[in-house]
Amino acid sequence: MTHQKEGQAEEHVGQKKGTTPRKATVVGKIAAITGATKGLGLALAKALAAEGWGLSVGGRNEQDLNDARKHILESGKENGRKEKEEKNHNILTVMMNVKKQADCNRFIKETASHFGKIDLLVNNAGIWDMTDVENITGQHLKDLFQTNTFGPMYCASAAIRVMKKQGCGHILNIGSTAGVKSKPDLLAYCGSKFAITGMTGSLFEKLQGTGIRISLFSPGGMKTQLFRKTPSMMKNDFMDPAFAAQKILEHINNPNDSWHVILYRDGRIERMG
Ligand SMILES: NC(=O)c1ccc[n+]([C@@H]2O[C@H](COP(=O)([O-])OP(=O)(O)OC[C@H]3O[C@@H](n4cnc5c(N)ncnc54)[C@H](OP(=O)(O)O)[C@@H]3O)[C@@H](O)[C@H]2O)c1
Repeated sequence: MTHQKEGQAEEHVGQKKGTTPRKATVVGKIAAITGATKGLGLALAKALAAEGWGLSVGGRNEQDLNDARKHILESGKENGRKEKEEKNHNILTVMMNVKKQADCNRFIKETASHFGKIDLLVNNAGIWDMTDVENITGQHLKDLFQTNTFGPMYCASAAIRVMKKQGCGHILNIGSTAGVKSKPDLLAYCGSKFAITGMTGSLFEKLQGTGIRISLFSPGGMKTQLFRKTPSMMKNDFMDPAFAAQKILEHINNPNDSWHVILYRDGRIERMG
């Protein structure tokens, strides 16, 4: 875990004072995932780990990051991974808030310096809230757009600089069906996800031929803590995030897949673009 508080020297847990941080022995591909401490992000981290990916897990709460590491290693055990292999399995946890561009730059920089490369960035971190259209506040709009739209673009921009040097890489943004079809009461959430749909399409067009794959995965309702402010909005027929994570993994492993894939909560998949 690396985290940098005002004026506090950077510290690598498990690293003896005064020694050079140990570079990870890269086993397989490397994925950096924002908001991987719970919900879809954690489910995807587990699914990638089960396939031998090295992981950089971004989140803003230290305890949650430590718990996420345990959950990912546990899921490795459940898949019968040998103890030794587990040890080698590389999980870097980085304290970061996607609303802060400096944190996003540091997340990408530390992932690249720890593993020596980045194969996949998943912009997953997000928040959800309903909008009282008669009392819209600047703070409400800022919270939704800074987290769901600006954050992914800050991370994508930093990752493009690394991936251009590598000549390869994949940037996958997590959108929403609310970023394809507007829903009542979700003015700001829809706006922030529609913006991601448009911006990802622009990146896709811009980076054609650079070796950097750009894609967008837009899931429907999932049973996660996203609705913790309004639990009644979570419906019984919402998907298990582990199911959606498997569908995202299939998309990641299919380089010829459409740049925009929609997964509806009844399991149907629609491919756009
Ligand atoms: N659940 C659904 O029905 C649904 C449907 C379509 C799309 N999505 C999208 O799926 C993605 C994952 O959401 P989820 O359903 O898995 O929700 P979740 O369980 O609430 O997980 C969201 C993750 O994002 C993190 N996060 C939030 N704000 C952050 C910030 N400023 N900086 C860093 N991390 C931050 C959260 O960490 P903290 O615990 O610190 O907040 C958490 O790890 C989001 O982009 C969401 O919009 C969800």
